[in-house]
Amino acid sequence: MIASAPGKVILFGEHAVVYGEPAIAAAISLRTYVSLSRSSHLTINGHVPEEGRHRYVLKALEVSGAPRGLEIITRSSIPPASGLGSSASVSVATVAASLALRKGNFEPEEVARLGFEVEHSVQGRASPTDTSTATHGHAILVDRVERRNLLWRIARGESVWYMHHIEVPDLTLVVGYSGIRSSTAEMVAKVRRFVEWSSFARDVIREIGRITLAAIKPLEDGDCKKLGELMLRNNRCLTILGVGHPTLSRMMEAAMKHSYGAKITGAGGGGSIIALTDSPEETKRAIEDVGGKAYMVKLGGEGVMLH
Ligand code: MEV
Repeated sequence: MIASAPGKVILFGEHAVVYGEPAIAAAISLRTYVSLSRSSHLTINGHVPEEGRHRYVLKALEVSGAPRGLEIITRSSIPPASGLGSSASVSVATVAASLALRKGNFEPEEVARLGFEVEHSVQGRASPTDTSTATHGHAILVDRVERRNLLWRIARGESVWYMHHIEVPDLTLVVGYSGIRSSTAEMVAKVRRFVEWSSFARDVIREIGRITLAAIKPLEDGDCKKLGELMLRNNRCLTILGVGHPTLSRMMEAAMKHSYGAKITGAGGGGSIIALTDSPEETKRAIEDVGGKAYMVKLGGEGVMLH
C-alpha cells in the first residue's frame, strides 16, 4: 500500500493561529511517499526502527492500529525542519496507508484527526494546520469559528479549530530554504513567553489575524499585488514576535527585487521564506546568490492519496 501527502506553506497567520486567530495554509508540489507491505517484522527504510529517529512513523502506526509486521519505505522531496510541513506529510501519509491496509480505504477527516494526534504527541504541536493541509491539499482557512466551505472541525482540550476549503488560483511561489533547521516547539514556546507578558505582543497577534482575513479575497481572485503587500505586513509582525533570522532577512531582501511580496513561512527562527513572483527564475537565482536553497513550487494540488 502506497500513500502520499503534500508539504505545505503557511501563507498567512502562523503563530497567531496558536492563539485562536485565523490562518491560511496551502499544499505545495513537494510530497512524501510512504509504502507499507506486510512482513514478518517491522523495518523502516531497511532499519530496525529507533524511537528517536522514526518518531512520526511509529506514532502514526500506533494511532492508526497498524499490524506489527511491516516493511516501510519513506521517500520525500520536502527538506526536514524547513517549515514546509515534512513531519505532517509523513505522519498523514503513514496514517492513510495504514488505514487503507486495514480497511481498504480511509476517510480524510479521520486521517486529519489522527495526523494531528501524531504531531501533538511527538512535538506538542500547537495547531492542526499542517496536518489538515497535508490531508486536504488545495488550501485551507483555519479559524475558531465556522465559515463557508467547512471541511471538518478538530477539538483538543479547550481549543476548537474549524478547517475550511479555499480555492487557490494557479500561483507559483519560490521557497527560499535557509538550511537552518528550526524546532517548531521551541519557536512556539518563545512566542508564547512574549505573548504572556506583553500586551503589545498580543496586539501584534491580533493584527496578524486581521491581515489573514484581509487576504482571503485577494487570494481567491489571484490579486498578487494586494497579496504581496499583505505578506510584507505579516512578515513585519512575525519579525516583531522574534521569529526572524539574519539569513531569512537576507533571502527576503534578495527575493523582493523580483517579487510582489515575501515572508517567513512556518515557525521561523531558521526554516524558509516564500516569495510571490512573476519571475520565479530570477527570484530563485537571487535567493541562491545569498546562500539560500530555492525551490519553485506550485500552490494547491491534491491532498493525501493512495497510489
Ligand atoms: C508551524 O508550521 C505553524 C505554527 O503556527 C505552529 C502551529 O500552528 O502548530 C508556528
